[in-house]
Amino acid sequence: MKKIAVLGYGVVGSGVVELFYKNKEKIEKNTGTELDVKYILDLREFPGDPYADKVVHDINIILNDPEVGYVAECMGGVNPAFKFVSSCLEAGKSVSTSNKQLVAEKGDILLQIAKKNDCNFFFEASVGGAIPIIRPLHTCLAGNDISAAAGILNGTTNFILEKMFCDKMGFDEALKLAQELGYAEKDPTADIDGADACRKVCILASLIFGKHVYPDSVYTKGIRDITLEDVELAEKMNGSIKLIGSTKRLEDGKILSTVMPMVVPEESLIAHVNGVFNAIMVWGDGFDKTMFYGRGAGKLPTASAVLGDIIDSIKSEHTVTSHEWVLDENTDFIANIDSLVAPRFYRTDLCTSEVYENAANAAGVTVDQIAEGGCVISNCDNKTADTFAKALEEAGVKVVSHIPVMAD
Ligand code: HSE
Repeated sequence: MKKIAVLGYGVVGSGVVELFYKNKEKIEKNTGTELDVKYILDLREFPGDPYADKVVHDINIILNDPEVGYVAECMGGVNPAFKFVSSCLEAGKSVSTSNKQLVAEKGDILLQIAKKNDCNFFFEASVGGAIPIIRPLHTCLAGNDISAAAGILNGTTNFILEKMFCDKMGFDEALKLAQELGYAEKDPTADIDGADACRKVCILASLIFGKHVYPDSVYTKGIRDITLEDVELAEKMNGSIKLIGSTKRLEDGKILSTVMPMVVPEESLIAHVNGVFNAIMVWGDGFDKTMFYGRGAGKLPTASAVLGDIIDSIKSEHTVTSHEWVLDENTDFIANIDSLVAPRFYRTDLCTSEVYENAANAAGVTVDQIAEGGCVISNCDNKTADTFAKALEEAGVKVVSHIPVMAD
């Protein structure tokens, strides 16, 4: 009989326990062993909960119990999660986590501790909720040179943007609904301002490119400034606005990682990803591109990924080494946002096509699309985009919004 401990009995932790007992028989058949949840660590008591007798308040009970070989960390945050997870790994207990902040900030250290102690630190649930993305990157797609990954990595903002786009719902009302449905982070600014998606980009970038990419290396801009007018203009130009997380190896070999609102043309599959769903497009030399899609947040979808990791830990006798990256203190491999090359969407005061064309000529780009109150110009870097905006301003046209366009 193998024993599991769950750290944190909030939305995800309680989902892990619920899904485990719902499918216990199948999971035991899959792993070929009897299993049980022995402890649930939380500061609170849960009177009346069917698993209240498993609740403990001291991590040492778990650390000192040799029967517990597998730990699901669903607490969130870095403190005390980092201390608890490192102690579990040092005691040879494999850990599965849904905690993207922990992986984004301390993943390199925790992977090393796991390797030293011949156990696993798994984090499938940290990116894309239920979507299998971490494991495919280092197993199914491992025969490729992966050059980029990009997509919708935050369910809350996608839900809010969809409510603005389809239901013309106000920002605050949509956010409140996302919180009620358990999608938003405890502090929703992490969703709105892009920190949550940034952490997920760090994890994807680190795994794909093999060096730890920290949150401060990712250009991050949230959706706070996106207005209904932006959304409506994008729609007129056959696009929608999505918060896109992206990491990409540029021609000079540097890695450009970003989180920002982007206009996504209607013909892209990403444009049709709505609600709390996430989608991640991955590009590689052998397979061209592939997209992963599914529920990116919520109790049972996230629990599904945590449990999958536990099952994998039980089946992997030793550390899975394909699943690691190293710390490189020299950050020369990180590209600056000025290296971004993309078409640009502008919302402006009323303006004639002639003025747009003249500004485009001044910047050396072409105008690809025009609608009343805005246009899209061809692929360019930030400096060229600034030259275009300046030319418009000099012609007396105010630029209200400038949003890069996602090209796939
Ligand atoms: N707040 C996150 C989201 C939860 O909305 O995507 C899943 O990471």
